[in-house]
Amino acid sequence: MRRKLVVANRKMYGSIPTNQAFLRELLAKTHDLKNADYVVCVPHPYLYQLQSMLIGSHIAWGDQHMSRFTLGAHTGSVSASMLLEFGCQYTIIGHSERRAWGYETDITSAERFATAIKAGIKPIYCVGDTRDEYLAGETDKVTFRQLSSVIEHVGVQGLAKGVLAYEPVWAIGTGKAAKPEHVQSILGFLRAQIATLDAKVAAEIRILYGGSVNASNVLKLFCMPDVDGALVGAASLNTPQFIEICRAANEATDARCALVVADS
Ligand code: PGA
Repeated sequence: MRRKLVVANRKMYGSIPTNQAFLRELLAKTHDLKNADYVVCVPHPYLYQLQSMLIGSHIAWGDQHMSRFTLGAHTGSVSASMLLEFGCQYTIIGHSERRAWGYETDITSAERFATAIKAGIKPIYCVGDTRDEYLAGETDKVTFRQLSSVIEHVGVQGLAKGVLAYEPVWAIGTGKAAKPEHVQSILGFLRAQIATLDAKVAAEIRILYGGSVNASNVLKLFCMPDVDGALVGAASLNTPQFIEICRAANEATDARCALVVADS
């Protein structure tokens, strides 16, 4: 049974006082939600604040852009060993916002993935189709290509050390999440592809959905059999919404989901 995972992708938002208020409330209101796991990913300058506030708690934290190099003359970059000093357990890799601006490709993402797992940091590897690719019916092809680049680099056993996230570019930041049935079909497809290499890895790896997840659409998404959680952007900037999403992850049990399905 895979535990649900909710990841806040706070992007380039936040400030010391607003982070503090968010984390305080999140700590207080999720500490009894023990059926799921929670992660907050922030810009690098805030990692020390997260470490100070979250250490020893039920909430893990991570960054959004770790260098694929381990050390050296890489002005402006942050290495895995530096992230470890600040207690990071996760790093977001291959996000479409980084792919779109050309900073990240399938190859650099795969290299970053390899660097992260070597250091013992869990990559949250994002795959996703653009609107044009979606309309052309190429979602499977594109996401499979993105997934394959990592598997070619680190093998299926390496892949198992990370988390996957399907984030359609056309759903991110639009307020319109992909339909749960579409999400299920892509996640099911990706899991089936992994199963052709290793059935155990396919059964155990967590695959998240991201793209306009909010408090009102999340439970139905979480009740899809292959959806193991969410990568949450805008709604993670709204503390009550984000806590509702964490609550949904905690409550998406078979019994609750049977009611959701019966209702729809
Ligand atoms: P969104 O962002 O929830 O604001 O659509 C998700 C993401 O980019 O990870």
